[in-house]
Amino acid sequence: MTRWLVTGGAGYIGAHVAQALIDSGREVTVIDSLSSGRREFVPEAARFVEGSLLDRDAVTRALEGATGVIHLAGYKYAGESVRHPLHTYTQNVTGTVELLEAMREAEVTEIVFSSSAGVYGTPDVAQVTEATATTPESPYGESKLIGEWMLWNERRRAELEGGSFSPVSLRYFNVIGSATGRIRDTSPHNVVPKVLAGLAAGRTPTIFGDDYATPDGTNVRDYVHVQDVALAHVAAAERLESGQPIESVYNLGSGAGSSTREIIEAILKATDSDQAPEVGPRRPGDPASIVADGTLAARDLDWQMRYSIDEMIASAVSAAGERD
Ligand SMILES: NC(=O)c1ccc[n+]([C@@H]2O[C@H](COP(=O)([O-])OP(=O)(O)OC[C@H]3O[C@@H](n4cnc5c(N)ncnc54)[C@H](O)[C@@H]3O)[C@@H](O)[C@H]2O)c1
Repeated sequence: MTRWLVTGGAGYIGAHVAQALIDSGREVTVIDSLSSGRREFVPEAARFVEGSLLDRDAVTRALEGATGVIHLAGYKYAGESVRHPLHTYTQNVTGTVELLEAMREAEVTEIVFSSSAGVYGTPDVAQVTEATATTPESPYGESKLIGEWMLWNERRRAELEGGSFSPVSLRYFNVIGSATGRIRDTSPHNVVPKVLAGLAAGRTPTIFGDDYATPDGTNVRDYVHVQDVALAHVAAAERLESGQPIESVYNLGSGAGSSTREIIEAILKATDSDQAPEVGPRRPGDPASIVADGTLAARDLDWQMRYSIDEMIASAVSAAGERD
């Protein structure tokens, strides 16, 4: 049986990944600083190391017995990263340096990296592919791109030394939903948890700008279900374990977009709310539309959209209902 170290496995996506790996018959260790994650999200069957990637002893302990690493730990807020650039670089760049050094020492050579649509900035193509130019526009997007560069350079270093290092980067688009009431997105900034928390507190949801060049004038984003994302990680781990060919980068996007108005209306419907969203001014730096082509991931990582938008939202609403 193989064991995977999931960094950030007490977070929203990481806990889903950890659970999916366990469900696939693998053993899991989680390392998490609990800065935004929750201890209770970590599956019971996982070994848990509480600690930061910046703490080498903790990382070395967490790597014991690991076949590979799924690296999700990080600071994930593109907008906030502009106000906290050094914090973002420390958590996402220095954290990854520390992890890669500890992996080198422990001779762990397989890694699946959590990257982001943020590496593309504001693409001027209808559908982003893995070949679309990377022009990040926030410290967050940059930190993810630097993370990828470090992976490619570690691969080159290993090859120069006659060894091997097998990295793969998954660029997620907008991850929503929940596979279990136990684990949910607790982010104060992502649209679904933010609107749900606002409704629970009696606030009217706001749409930031309705004069974009999109079908209904509001931003279009590519929403994907967290369980589909988790299963793509399991497929990536499987390919790395078996030595099957694997690309360096995959977009985890659906190929279709939904507008902010559609998402907010789906949330209002799922919560039986009769409020109408307010329209506020545009937020600086919000691209009109980002939609990704997921063909490569569908070919190699069993990437499928197993849920409709309404099902994704319903699962998020029901998980939010479990909040304590
Ligand atoms: N949520 C999305 O839509 C989305 C989209 C693209 C990429 N991502 C990336 O996916 C990853 C997981 O995102 P999420 O939505 O689950 O966020 P999250 O905040 O729920 O999870 C991140 C986890 O990492 C932990 N962590 C942060 N810094 C750490 C450190 N230095 N050492 C150890 N643990 C640390 C946090 O405590 C948390 O449990 C992040 O890297 C994020 O950038 C998320």
